[in-house]
Amino acid sequence: MKFFIDTANLAEIKEAHDMGILDGVTTNPSLMAKEGITGTNNILNHYVNICSIVDGPVSAEVIATDVDGIIREGEALAALHPNIVVKVPMILEGIKAIKHFSSQGIPTNCTLLFTPGQALLAAKAGATYISPFLGRLDDVSTDGLQLIEQIRTIYDNYQFETQILAASVRHPMHIIHCATIGADVMTGPLSAIKALAKHPLTDLGLQQFLADYAKGNG
Ligand code: G3P
Repeated sequence: MKFFIDTANLAEIKEAHDMGILDGVTTNPSLMAKEGITGTNNILNHYVNICSIVDGPVSAEVIATDVDGIIREGEALAALHPNIVVKVPMILEGIKAIKHFSSQGIPTNCTLLFTPGQALLAAKAGATYISPFLGRLDDVSTDGLQLIEQIRTIYDNYQFETQILAASVRHPMHIIHCATIGADVMTGPLSAIKALAKHPLTDLGLQQFLADYAKGNG
């Protein structure tokens, strides 16, 4: 399973990259605003800066909601760097744009996806990735992981090549469950990735090993 980080924070992206396990980055307009990145030029520059840190797909989201606008914005984003993936909202105009991008060989990530039907539609349009928001479904008492399972079954039934990018991951168990189900990619905060490394028995065992070594070696 590939690990993407869901942030526009350059320091976090660099930290994840330096760990050697980062496969890509996802962003959205809220994450860009959180970093104080505003204005078209600054936003475009920020995507280029992210691409200079990570050697993998970087999702950059369009703001337009009509097909012509999505295509115009998406083509400008794709021209920024070969690793840019155009992130398109799961609306009918977005589906038309994804079909266009797919015919042009421009990679896409269909976002704000909450149902198996939406996943089917995005795959038929040729989306490279789909982003089911599992954490946000959990937030409203709906099983986000069950959605990932259903989409896995549907895509396997018909050998769709669209990759399931489990998004809105909130904690390490989400990552473990997504890997068990067979999501192709997960994206979440760096804290959830780092938490995978933690176990009290690891810490205790290491403490003991170092103490025993110190006894024998001064
Ligand atoms: O990539 C999905 C994402 O940005 C939404 O995550 O944590 O805001 O639900 P969250």
